[in-house]
Amino acid sequence: MNKTQELIDKILKLKREKKAVILAHNYQRPEIQDIADYIGDSIELSRKAMDEKEAKIIVFSAVDFMAESAAILNPEKKVLLPSKGARCPMAQMLPVEQIRMWKKKYPNVPVVLYVNTLAEAKAECDVCCTSANAAKIIDAIDAEKVLFGPDHNLAWHAKRKTGKEIIPIPEKGFCPTHILFQKEDIEILKNEYPNAVVAVHPECMPEVQLIADFIGSTSQMCRFAKETEANEIVIATENGLLHRLKKENPDKNFIPAYSDAVCPNMKLNTLEKLYLTLKNEQYVVTVPKAVAKKARKALEKMFTLLSQ
Ligand code: 13P
Ligand code: SF4
Repeated sequence: MNKTQELIDKILKLKREKKAVILAHNYQRPEIQDIADYIGDSIELSRKAMDEKEAKIIVFSAVDFMAESAAILNPEKKVLLPSKGARCPMAQMLPVEQIRMWKKKYPNVPVVLYVNTLAEAKAECDVCCTSANAAKIIDAIDAEKVLFGPDHNLAWHAKRKTGKEIIPIPEKGFCPTHILFQKEDIEILKNEYPNAVVAVHPECMPEVQLIADFIGSTSQMCRFAKETEANEIVIATENGLLHRLKKENPDKNFIPAYSDAVCPNMKLNTLEKLYLTLKNEQYVVTVPKAVAKKARKALEKMFTLLSQ
């Protein structure tokens, strides 16, 4: 038996013994996606974490804010993040002090925060959203003006869809991976593959979104890839998604819009770390109770607005 298979067997054995479930984001390394119990975008994984009634441990193979959301929604479960340093840089761009400052400036304006924020930030907002539902949530809010952060490209996408006034906080929050996609690169690919359609993540810059055939979250992009009649699809998001896309659509051709679009934080998680996570029950994600209570309200408000 080769070393990788040995490691996989040890992970699966520990998982069974400890009644653990492995949730992996769509950007995880292929070998992690292949052994995960569930793969998905941020909202799907949050829902899965809540549905897992039997599990004692949730291993959240992703970055900090996603594991934190799982911990907030499942206070009775142990939530583990395989890599301590797996932090989304965008989530760090909106410190809680800044939100308070913006709230003072616009006292009666609701605050909608992307889930790519830290728990303390979520605790300061009215409602959360994900890339799959930002426009839907803003539409559902009874206000014509909202404060929205931290991603100003997602803010642009939501404004385009809802027509509401959206004040981005901070003014220029962004994802360092998604701003790598360039309109010019995609135009070259469109010339090379004239029958291809273009699917992009809403964290991409406006000019990239404007030439897309489809804009959506990572899992929405997977659904689009299945449903479109096109056989060639240019993909503008982190390259981890390509593994799932190819696996689910073996007859289609996926063309990365930029082949080095990698989120280094997502890629910190490896099979070795997954094994150590389960073996040593590290790194436990905890959120102070008072913060968790308020942040949970904002996450639950998102689920409520989506179900209306
Ligand atoms: P999704 O919710 O679309 O998977 O996005 C999360 C993310 O971090 C994108 O960079
Ligand atoms: Fe954060 Fe961008 Fe990585 Fe997503 S891809 S986790 S937004 S840095």
